[in-house]
Amino acid sequence: MLMSTGAEAAEKAIKIAKQATKRDAVICYTGAFHGRTLMAMTLTSKIDYKLNCGPFAPEVYRLPLPNTYRYSNGLTEDEYVQQELKRLHESGKNLVNPKNVAAIIIELVQGEGGFTVAPQAYIEGLRDFCDEHGIMLIFDEVQSGFARTGSWGAMDHYNVIPDLSTWAKSMGSGMPIATVIGKAEVMDAAAPGTIGGTYIGNPVACAASLATIQYIKDVKLNERGVEVGNILRTRFEAMQTKFPQIGDVRGLGAMMAIEFVKNGDPRQPDGDLCSKVVKGCAEQGLIIISAGTYKNNIRVLSPLTISNDLLNKGLDIIEEEIRKATLS
Ligand SMILES: Cc1ncc(COP(=O)(O)O)c(C=O)c1O
Repeated sequence: MLMSTGAEAAEKAIKIAKQATKRDAVICYTGAFHGRTLMAMTLTSKIDYKLNCGPFAPEVYRLPLPNTYRYSNGLTEDEYVQQELKRLHESGKNLVNPKNVAAIIIELVQGEGGFTVAPQAYIEGLRDFCDEHGIMLIFDEVQSGFARTGSWGAMDHYNVIPDLSTWAKSMGSGMPIATVIGKAEVMDAAAPGTIGGTYIGNPVACAASLATIQYIKDVKLNERGVEVGNILRTRFEAMQTKFPQIGDVRGLGAMMAIEFVKNGDPRQPDGDLCSKVVKGCAEQGLIIISAGTYKNNIRVLSPLTISNDLLNKGLDIIEEEIRKATLS
């Protein structure tokens, strides 16, 4: 189903899931961002995005996203994921009755959350949990879709099929178009009139999206996404060896981020350092923004058509500003 914005896609996906299951509740995650309309804002985690905007939509429950870097606390990723899957199953006893849960919505790579990548084993366990309880699994691919991870969707890296997924942003190269994709029997559960809109399927936006899809294929933009991601990872890892304040380098494909912490401690986010780097870059003509709950991440979402020279020029500026900010 076509629509105009990512937030609208989140709203519609939840409405479709509710109709398909005849249930009320939704589970979402810490660090999540799903948009700024009522349900999407309720699903969004960071308080700054919703300050004084309540009351929020009812029957929305939140679980911690397995953030291995910050919270694994000495456990291996496998042990940590098992602990978080246990928490997921316990949520059926202490958070919300899973038989009343219509959907669980998750970003496989959190966008505004700072490119935290959900662990593979957790997503597989989540799929099993949803199957066990008849819950619709929704992947929000609004930021991660259309070549950003070096693939059409982040889900391609996981080999896990959701019941519904939401897409926007790169889908129309800036034109207002979004979509919910889902299994036919799930999509068909939506009654006529419940998920429409005046501008859905706007012909100009559709033409832009079709041209975008063709272009992605023609210039092999998914492959370019991998290349851009490799450049970013190599450069960021090299910076990490010089600046211990970079606690983590992470991402998927061309969605790469760095996280600033104090004393090498994942639990001591350094938002001040990050804001100095952002400001310094702006003075050099490079516009970047901070991301994450503590505003201590820098993520790169450059155009995938960027030249290697221009990308490296931007990275040079970031590196230089980190150097200056860590000296002061
Ligand atoms: C993962 C994700 N979902 C949903 C949205 C909301 O999209 P829009 O701003 O088009 O409403 C965004 C926007 O940043 C996003 O990153």
